[in-house]
Amino acid sequence: MSIDVVLGLQWGDEGKGKIVDVLAEKYPVVARFQGGPNAGHSLHFDGFKFVLHTIPSGIFRKGSINIIGNGVVIDPIIFRNECEELIKAGVPVKERLFISKKAHFILPTHRIIDAASEASKGKSKIGSTLKGIGPTYMDKTGRNGLRVGDALSSDFMERFINLKKKHIGMLKQFDYAYNAEENEKEWLDAVEYIKGYNLVDGEYFANDLIKEGKRILAEGAQGSMLDIDFGSYPFVTSSSTVCAGACTGLGIAPGKVAEVYGIFKAYCTRVGSGPFPTELNDETGEKLRKFGFEFGATTGRPRRTGWLDLVALKYTVMINGVTGLIMMKSDVMDTFDTIKAATSYIVDGKETRNVPYDTYAEVTPVYTEFKGWKKPLNTVKDEKDLPSEFMEYVKFIEEYVGVPVRIISVGPDRNETILR
Ligand code: GDP
Ligand code: IMO
Ligand code: MG
Repeated sequence: MSIDVVLGLQWGDEGKGKIVDVLAEKYPVVARFQGGPNAGHSLHFDGFKFVLHTIPSGIFRKGSINIIGNGVVIDPIIFRNECEELIKAGVPVKERLFISKKAHFILPTHRIIDAASEASKGKSKIGSTLKGIGPTYMDKTGRNGLRVGDALSSDFMERFINLKKKHIGMLKQFDYAYNAEENEKEWLDAVEYIKGYNLVDGEYFANDLIKEGKRILAEGAQGSMLDIDFGSYPFVTSSSTVCAGACTGLGIAPGKVAEVYGIFKAYCTRVGSGPFPTELNDETGEKLRKFGFEFGATTGRPRRTGWLDLVALKYTVMINGVTGLIMMKSDVMDTFDTIKAATSYIVDGKETRNVPYDTYAEVTPVYTEFKGWKKPLNTVKDEKDLPSEFMEYVKFIEEYVGVPVRIISVGPDRNETILR
């Protein structure tokens, strides 16, 4: 048995939470492999809406096993709030959740450094979610981090104080007012709270489940265009959001990866700064934001909107070895007369179908136009009832990137999903 991966192919918020929740019916195990509370994954079912930040989107399924892998960074305070909300809703989180001891802690001072660093950048700020993600991964790769398993050792407090001191030293370079002790007590209490959960050697835990014949669904956070290596650097997050990150973030060998499901919206959004070639700063962009309710699930910030970018999509399909596409939110464009998708870029006066190295480069998208379907999609239950104009758009995308669309989502609810 093996693992299948679901990940975002654009700049995040593609609808990963919804799809993982839908697919979790068929997978006994769901695992998050990177990112942290910068993620906001929304789920809608039975008239309820939940937004998950750290906990995998399989948590609502009876009898499910949910893993927070070593590649994830955890803010104990956010984690506890999330658990308490789920428990209030009757979800037996403790039974269903397993946390790798190798996952790293986000300290209160990581969040302060994130804020100070962003403030110092002025106009060139990344637009971070300010959850402390960058500084935590810096400490991880810098070999200074505190891991969840460390909370079980007797010198945890000493190590915490040492790391905090190091952070206070770093903060001297910024002209930034802060209180290093703010939230500290709450944070330490929340660390105690986490100790009451199943803390496991995640790599053995996951591989043993595979050996038992259980199928694992790995749930990506963010999107491939925010990947630390392949995203629009430096306007990226600090983890490997691509398929390879599922292996390093869980301790599962590449040969065990079977299907790679790539999720994309029928248009594009981006929250935070950085290049966005197909961005629409006009009425159409406003319509996409309004009809798609494009406001951040974590920060509430309005998302930037634009047409589908097939050049970027083909690039992320390549990086991830996507075997099946999942197309989201087409229903948002139900009333559009025409729809556009970028099929090449003009860079330095030359046409190209490749994403350029220099993310600051002047990129002019070349568009292909499609006729709108002008019918509501969210009532469609079967592929054969989808409007022909819509299917033309789908077929074009499949041919351009060379991968079939396996699932079409036509609304936020679990039930508004067409499997092909
Ligand atoms: P994630 O971070 O990838 O899980 O995505 P988010 O939850 O941040 O953002 C996706 C938003 O789109 C959420 O508000 C979802 O409820 C909503 N959504 C998901 N799929 C669809 C869809 O097919 N149609 C519409 N209209 N909304 C959707
Ligand atoms: P999900 O999992 C969309 C963006 C931020 C910022 C950049 C770096 O819900 O798709 P960070 O806090 O990671 O240092 O921010 O990445 N970003 C996201 N955008 N969806 C996300 O997660 C994101 N997580 C981070 O807006 O531009
Ligand atoms: Mg999101």
